Amino acid sequence: MGRRRERGQLRITGPELGYDPVMPDMKSSPLATLAWLIEAGADEALLDEPVNRFAARSNPPLEGGSKFAQQIPAYAKAPVGHESHDVRRSLGEGGSGRGPAPPSTSPSPKMPSAFSTLPQGEGKRVTPTSALSTSTSSSDPIGRAMELAAGANSLVELKTALESFDGCPLKKSATTTVFADGTPAHRIMFIGEAPGRDEDRVGKPFVGRAGQLLDKMLASIGLDRTKNAYITNVINWRPPDNRDPSPEEAAMCLPFLRRHIELAQPEILIMLGAVSARHVLGRTDGIMRLRGKWLEYHVNGKMVPVMPTLHPAYLLRQPAHKKLAWRDLQAIEDKIKSLGLLELSPNAD
Ligand code: URA
Repeated sequence: MGRRRERGQLRITGPELGYDPVMPDMKSSPLATLAWLIEAGADEALLDEPVNRFAARSNPPLEGGSKFAQQIPAYAKAPVGHESHDVRRSLGEGGSGRGPAPPSTSPSPKMPSAFSTLPQGEGKRVTPTSALSTSTSSSDPIGRAMELAAGANSLVELKTALESFDGCPLKKSATTTVFADGTPAHRIMFIGEAPGRDEDRVGKPFVGRAGQLLDKMLASIGLDRTKNAYITNVINWRPPDNRDPSPEEAAMCLPFLRRHIELAQPEILIMLGAVSARHVLGRTDGIMRLRGKWLEYHVNGKMVPVMPTLHPAYLLRQPAHKKLAWRDLQAIEDKIKSLGLLELSPNAD
């Protein structure tokens, strides 16, 4: 497994691309090992010093992103526990509870069903157990992101953990940390790319022009972020000039996003645009090829159907493609109906 950087993307390569999956013995043949790593796509150093993540802890592998899950680098994986919990413990007692729940090691604070009503910064202060260990934030921000994300046992805790994370350079130029908006209780989760200017100002995803179009798209299939839809982004801080996030920036946000998905326990995921499909699913095909098809995301032992579709900002530029988005929305509506998601009462088990 390796990483190869191209413009604005993280590409994971692996055995299916034709290199020998058996790594040579590093001590007896360092050159062969180097050649193997380059062949595998690991041709770039991310940090000055190597990090032995096996020594740091031994986490079970993350399920998620189907094929991608087995191939994502260790740093981009959040640990997944084996225990089953009532989701109300994760979302707070106001959340809905169905399906396997993520690990929780501490009692969770109460979580309003409409997450949007949660003021910025409100919620229990998170002191993840990992925060008590030696901080690695400056030398290993991705590892630190993983620790913080893993230590959060509810959405409120995750938001607080994210806000406390200073490892991502994007945070320095951003005004706010943009976590999520909407209502997680109905298990319908949308994932966009990154905050823009308006989102950075307000601190919520999709509040600008693209957000207004997204709200119309949601309304066309009976969704409303204040009632039954939950929205977040891959990237939590506005990239300067709305540029594409770099693979490193994405890698620092991904542990939080993966934990976010675990805690929100969506029954259906919708990827808005190519960037989210690329980072969450590890799919580098163009969005035009990916859109409109149901793919799989595995989390907590469960397969979640995921549909990539066109980003509202793209639709503002290419209104002729709204008819494609409309087709996708109809498929999403059908899936929501077949899963009975709108019938979920926020406190149902
Ligand atoms: N575009 C996104 O992908 N996310 C936002 O929050 C706003 C615009």
